[in-house]
Amino acid sequence: MVDDDRDLGDAQHVHWQSTYTAHPGMYGAEPSAAARRAAEVFRMAGSANVLELGAGHGRDALFFAREGFTVHAIDFSSAGLDQLRAAARAQSLDARVTALVHDVRDPLPWPDASQDAVFAHMVLCMALSTPQIRAIVGEVRRVLRPGGVLVYTVRHTDDAHYGAGVAHGDDIYEHSGFAVHFFTRYLVDSLAEGWILTEVYAFEEGDLPRRLWCITQALPHG
Ligand SMILES: C[S@@+](CC[C@H](N)C(=O)[O-])C[C@H]1O[C@@H](n2cnc3c(N)ncnc32)[C@H](O)[C@@H]1O
Repeated sequence: MVDDDRDLGDAQHVHWQSTYTAHPGMYGAEPSAAARRAAEVFRMAGSANVLELGAGHGRDALFFAREGFTVHAIDFSSAGLDQLRAAARAQSLDARVTALVHDVRDPLPWPDASQDAVFAHMVLCMALSTPQIRAIVGEVRRVLRPGGVLVYTVRHTDDAHYGAGVAHGDDIYEHSGFAVHFFTRYLVDSLAEGWILTEVYAFEEGDLPRRLWCITQALPHG
């Protein structure tokens, strides 16, 4: 099972590389609604830096930088991050944004309690098994400082593509080459154990539309 998880994720890596190469800037230059909301939450929590998981070509990372945050953007697609770096240079934001090729299935390369805020838009719902998702949230918890905030979004079981396409088990379905782990509310609640769950709201993105939840959870202060 662990090898199968790894194989699916590795195949998705190839898929994302070729997708970004074929469709540069595919999500557009405007930030997501989730990022706009997260910037308010991070500011209210006194955050100066944001670590973004699965930043892609950077529509949200660049927005956070424009909003004054220092941003570490990670993704396993070097093609996406090359586009992010080029856009950061073009917008004179390169001093505020660093981009690192990193697979979130591996431990985060930052020390304990070193980050103020973590943002992850449509990443935890990628080709990740439930144990891998739990491990990633554990890593986020490790690198966040006390009082640090995680805002993440995921497609969920009311999405039109839930149950469609190739079933990989563990609520993961592959449709048009993209594998998605559709979240249950039970999974959201269980990932918030030991955190303060402050908000779960439903929203939609894109033409499908993708049906998502945006979750905000914070670590207790010291
Ligand atoms: C649906 S896209 C969202 C991109 C970006 N957050 C946005 O909304 O513009 C998912 C992103 O997650 C990245 N990704 C998927 N699995 C990953 C993994 N295991 N490690 C790091 N990045 C991953 C993909 O390369 C892709 O950029």
